[in-house]
Amino acid sequence: MANVITCVDDLQAIARKRVPRLFYDYVDSGSWSESTYRANSNDLARLKFRQRVGCNVADIRVNATMLGTPVTMPVGLAPAGLAGMVHADGEILAARAAAKFGVPYVLSTVSICSIEDLARHTAQPFWFQIYMLKDRGFIEQLIERARAAQCSALVLTMDLPIQGQRHKDIRNGLSVPPRITLHGLSALLTRPRWCASMLRTPRRTFGNIVGHAKGVSDTLGFSEWVSRQFDRTVSWKDVQWLKQRWGGKLVVKGIMDPHDACRAIDAGADAVVVSNHGGRQLDGAPSSIRALPAIVQAVSGRAEVYVDGGIRSGQDVLRALSLGATAAFVGRAYMYGLGAAGQTGVTRCLEILRHELESTMALCGLTDINNASPDVIVNPYIQSMQGDHA
Ligand SMILES: Cc1cc2nc3c(=O)[nH]c(=O)nc-3n(C[C@H](O)[C@H](O)[C@H](O)COP(=O)(O)O)c2cc1C
Repeated sequence: MANVITCVDDLQAIARKRVPRLFYDYVDSGSWSESTYRANSNDLARLKFRQRVGCNVADIRVNATMLGTPVTMPVGLAPAGLAGMVHADGEILAARAAAKFGVPYVLSTVSICSIEDLARHTAQPFWFQIYMLKDRGFIEQLIERARAAQCSALVLTMDLPIQGQRHKDIRNGLSVPPRITLHGLSALLTRPRWCASMLRTPRRTFGNIVGHAKGVSDTLGFSEWVSRQFDRTVSWKDVQWLKQRWGGKLVVKGIMDPHDACRAIDAGADAVVVSNHGGRQLDGAPSSIRALPAIVQAVSGRAEVYVDGGIRSGQDVLRALSLGATAAFVGRAYMYGLGAAGQTGVTRCLEILRHELESTMALCGLTDINNASPDVIVNPYIQSMQGDHA
């Protein structure tokens, strides 16, 4: 990488230049007015650290465990659809970067690379994300495929009974693979490096779905299938069913309410992810960091509590863990790394997060990330769900 990269914003700036506009916008967008998308980062920035001195911070430890597995830092790569369109073979590159770094990678159902393909190209087990779709037979198939690929956890995303609308995707006519119109083609040609790498890879469609789900033999069939498949009737009974069927570690993602967190755990979740889908679903929902403390309190140690949304720095990771999260997940931060420089870019993103996390801990007088607590933050109660968004 010739560019000097000091922070995640630098990766974003490079990704913006290298990734075709429609896929860059797909990442850098939220639903409707994008107010929740913005609130996720803005609310994190409002949490101020307590500066401490004279604490002997020669030895800083950020290693931890997630679902009983040791990790080198309590951060995971969140499931992100179309990673393989942001960079050719994007899922394989991101999963390899995560495995080498020692943190979990979650493969999305709507990835370009299939579960089997990823398992063949990575040495470490990854987690697999699933939606509760109407075609339960297909869900059963996905569960068996995840088991055969030795996925170490299943992540059930609950916040998508219907799809939030992203204006940019509609305006850009987002499709996979990109529709070849004259205008679309000229836009793609401004990204020659991306075009060349896409021509070299066979992975250009939804690998988990096309050719597997009934009636989806091509991408045109796919869009129609997707719009029919999101299930508005999903209930906690379905979560129980999924847990029984899977039998392994289950993470329930998309929790923003303490009661829902408890119901997820009662239904068999080993962990919940406090998440508003990165501001891509319910626009107008509070930021996820705001929702976190009440959920941590309600869960009361019965399950791990992860959080995602707006995390762009090691400082943000420390903020999240100080408010009680077991670990933080990043979505766009690593997708920008991927778009900027493939596997190297994702690794760089993780290195940046770790370096910033360690430095911030040192300046807060904290030597072990497992001891992070609200004491690290001067104003932790700013996050109360009561009160407005001032
Ligand atoms: C481009 C993109 C695609 C996403 N695709 C999925 C997905 O397929 N499944 C899912 O559960 N969440 C998906 N998400 C949500 C992320 O898992 C995560 O909740 C969100 O990105 C966290 O916010 P952040 O991007 O600000 O870190 C996606 C997010 C982005 C940005």
